[in-house]
Amino acid sequence: MEDVSDPPFRALCKEQGADVVYTEFISSEGLIRDAAKSLIKLDIYEKERPVGIQIFGANLDSMLRSVEIVEKTKPDIIDINFGCPVKKVVSKGAGAGILKDIDLMVSLTEAMVKHTDVPITVKTRLGWDHDSIKIVEVAERLQDVGCKAISIHGRTRAQMYKGDADWNPIAKVKNNPRMHIPVFGNGDVNTPERAVEMRDKYGLDGAMIGRASIGNPWFFREVKHFFETGEHLAPPSMQERIDIARRHLQMAIDWKGEKLGVFETRRHYTNYFKGIPDFKPYRTKMVTCDNPADVFAAFDEVEQLFGDYQFESVV
Ligand SMILES: Cc1cc2nc3c(=O)[nH]c(=O)nc-3n(C[C@H](O)[C@H](O)[C@H](O)COP(=O)(O)O)c2cc1C
Repeated sequence: MEDVSDPPFRALCKEQGADVVYTEFISSEGLIRDAAKSLIKLDIYEKERPVGIQIFGANLDSMLRSVEIVEKTKPDIIDINFGCPVKKVVSKGAGAGILKDIDLMVSLTEAMVKHTDVPITVKTRLGWDHDSIKIVEVAERLQDVGCKAISIHGRTRAQMYKGDADWNPIAKVKNNPRMHIPVFGNGDVNTPERAVEMRDKYGLDGAMIGRASIGNPWFFREVKHFFETGEHLAPPSMQERIDIARRHLQMAIDWKGEKLGVFETRRHYTNYFKGIPDFKPYRTKMVTCDNPADVFAAFDEVEQLFGDYQFESVV
């Protein structure tokens, strides 16, 4: 996820049980122009493997040149984003914009598969809009040109993030007898029960988890525990939350420097400390201090004042 899935956060998710992690989506046009903002997103830590680097674009030459740049960083997977609904991406025919031109989607994928030995996977949506859902056919064509796995967000581009994700069309893709590559479902997996449903009721090969992990890398271990035992894991303790917040900030500073490290971890703190009564002034400190020492001091203060706080189980 853009501005979320950076190396520090991915490392935390991995530690907490994520099986595969992906980078933020990276612009192929930015990569080939050496844009610093795009290049830094290629950083991967050994400990997060298997890791996929996700790129987007709609121009064949730019995508192929990007593959050459990306493969030098030795990812385990190169994932193509054919699902981003944002106007500035779609208007260039990239992301979900390509759902208006399935032939181009297939030919770009084929060319990329042929251009590298790194497995190419695709992340996409059900279709452009409700009247153009052809995901069963699209997935089959992508498989036929060598795509190694497909992740499908159960919404159309027209839906953006509105309404509920519909997993039925994703199950149809999986149940197509011609399909043999892994099919991963995505959209609204926000409880361990939903992950079980995706596996058992919809028969999918994996659940791709997005928003439920923001400020909640523990979600992955909760899902796995639930898979194994059918029971809910106790929520992480206050001490564990503070420890993760400290480590997250430190890793972010080590990776991106003080200014960006402080800035880019902010969005996680709300969820790290969600549900604590009268917490607002402390959260405000964490998300407004510009200096790392002040943010660490805010963590210390929270540890002293709220160290004994017991989080209620979500069920
Ligand atoms: C802030 C944000 C950034 C996102 N960035 C990406 C991205 O870079 N690549 C991608 O494939 N999907 C991205 N997505 C979409 C998610 O991966 C996912 O498809 C969508 O949020 C639905 O799944 P969820 O309900 O588990 O979040 C992003 C979503 C959010 C909320």
